Amino acid sequence: MPIFLLGMGKPTIAILPGDGIGPEIMDATLGILAEVGFEAEYVTLDAGLGAVEKGLPAMPTETIERIREIGVALKSPTTTPSGGGHVSANVALRKALDLFANVRPAKTLPGLKGPFSDKNVDIIIVRENTEDLYAGIEFMAHPDVAQSIKVITRAGSARLFEYTFDMARKQKRKKVTVVHKANIMKLSDGLFLEEFYKAAKNNPDIESDDIIVDNCCMQLVTRPEKFDVLVTENLYGDIISDLCAGLVGGLGLAPGANIGKNCAVFEAVHGSAPDIAGKGIANPTALLMSAVMMLHHLGYHEIADRIRNSVLRVCADGKCLTIDLGGKATTSDYAREVVMAGK
Ligand code: NAI
Repeated sequence: MPIFLLGMGKPTIAILPGDGIGPEIMDATLGILAEVGFEAEYVTLDAGLGAVEKGLPAMPTETIERIREIGVALKSPTTTPSGGGHVSANVALRKALDLFANVRPAKTLPGLKGPFSDKNVDIIIVRENTEDLYAGIEFMAHPDVAQSIKVITRAGSARLFEYTFDMARKQKRKKVTVVHKANIMKLSDGLFLEEFYKAAKNNPDIESDDIIVDNCCMQLVTRPEKFDVLVTENLYGDIISDLCAGLVGGLGLAPGANIGKNCAVFEAVHGSAPDIAGKGIANPTALLMSAVMMLHHLGYHEIADRIRNSVLRVCADGKCLTIDLGGKATTSDYAREVVMAGK
């Protein structure tokens, strides 16, 4: 459980400032939280390139243990080199803390212009976070043949679906759709699908159905408003959640939460955006909305709603938007506007 008791002082929150635009959007987010009167004990921890440069692993054991102890973390993106280099700090963290469900809401923000702004998108993607091709079992079977093993377990699937139906009920959602490719991967995705329908049988108050991943992608860009909660495997979820972020205005707006039994780590869907790092122009909304999810998790619903409403007002007004949303505002201009919108 998180280190705090309601009504008995400030919560303790682990902070991972991350790489690239990470520290910039973290400063903006914590600044907004402070301005709206949220007080916490922040414990800043190493991760990513910063840790590697100190001779530590990208996700140091000390960081993992502190998050385990504290129970709640707000994390900025960390850089992972493609091909060689250090292993992903995220994958290491999710595995070590068994953060099995990655929850990524994608909701149309009124007022924002984009190719899908006339659609009423309101989807929650729940992505399995520890198994599948991300289990990290890769080897060279031969100098010219690389193999990656896809792992789907009955227990891992069952707990994901149990969490998803429970979350759907709490958030007053009507339907859960499982996304798979069981027509081709008959054993792995077949097992995933089988466990889904077992869970669906135990949750008859919520509608359930399934869709093949390629058809799902096509329907997401033609009729996104028909989807409610999507639950899927790690790789499909990684791709689909970026697609859904694109439906509602881009990566700068997409928040997320990694949920485990005793720990939760809140982070934006996007990466460290090295192309714009250090320029002060990153959009902090995705991390800020991840912090809003964290505030709900900690029971600070009123402050969470206030921040969300301020973001909605600034976006609808359209006068102070960051460059990714077609505006000219810097990260700090935007953060100031969000604070003002709440006054
Ligand atoms: P990315 O998400 O960092 O960037 C993709 C594009 O979106 C870029 O043009 C970037 O400028 C833009 N963008 C992303 N976030 C933005 C924001 N808040 N405001 C404005 N524009 C934004 O993806 P990319 O380039 O594939 O990955 C860069 C690094 O991030 C890689 O090392 C990757 O491994 C890492 N990464 C880390 C994640 C995490 O820590 N959770 C998640 C995804 C990627």
